[in-house]
Amino acid sequence: MNVESISLTIDKMNLQDLSQVTEIEKQLFNPPWSYETFLSEVESESRCCLVVRCADGIIGYAICAILYDEAHILSIGVAKKYQKLSIATLLMVEIMDYAISNAVVKVILEVRVSNDKAKGLYEKFGFAPVGIRKKYYTQPSEDAIVYLLDSLHEAQYLIRLDKIRQSLESK
Ligand SMILES: CC(C)(COP(=O)(O)OP(=O)(O)OC[C@H]1O[C@@H](n2cnc3c(N)ncnc32)[C@H](O)[C@@H]1OP(=O)(O)O)[C@@H](O)C(=O)NCCC(=O)NCCS
Repeated sequence: MNVESISLTIDKMNLQDLSQVTEIEKQLFNPPWSYETFLSEVESESRCCLVVRCADGIIGYAICAILYDEAHILSIGVAKKYQKLSIATLLMVEIMDYAISNAVVKVILEVRVSNDKAKGLYEKFGFAPVGIRKKYYTQPSEDAIVYLLDSLHEAQYLIRLDKIRQSLESK
């Protein structure tokens, strides 16, 4: 499968999406967020909750909290069958656009030390490691790397984001 062969849309997550999102979450995370956790995220005014859909239904999602001028990416996941097709890249571009339009100046997130795929994704978007949270994760217990992006409004960053966007359009 390649991404050109799928017709994709990206939308705000709504209540009808939560069952599918929870099912994907179970494939990807241990321990997974519950339906109720996603429900409270969708109902929170400070959240940007997104889904990517194709003809099969929802295939990816992301949740970002915005507090004043800071954003925190809380979750991003892509169904296994659809990974490595730039779906997470599409979600990240949308989050960054949302953050920029909401006057966010820095974005932070945590990632498992061993999660090379996610670290690659975040580094592609210019995030850099700034610290460690010891034993932040359970099952298995693992440290988190804290990643920070604080150049969101710099001209160079906007160019970088545009290049990523163009790479999606050419796929
Ligand atoms: C991490 C994750 C969201 C990436 O989703 P995806 O749609 O496959 O990612 P993309 O195809 O957009 O790839 C974006 C970048 O991620 C990195 N990446 C993705 N898959 C990778 C892999 N198998 N190996 C190494 N790097 C990988 C690369 O840097 C890639 O950039 P490139 O395509 O320019 O090389 C997905 O693997 C996932 O859902 N993992 C489980 C949940 C998770 O770990 N979420 C993050 C929690 S912090």
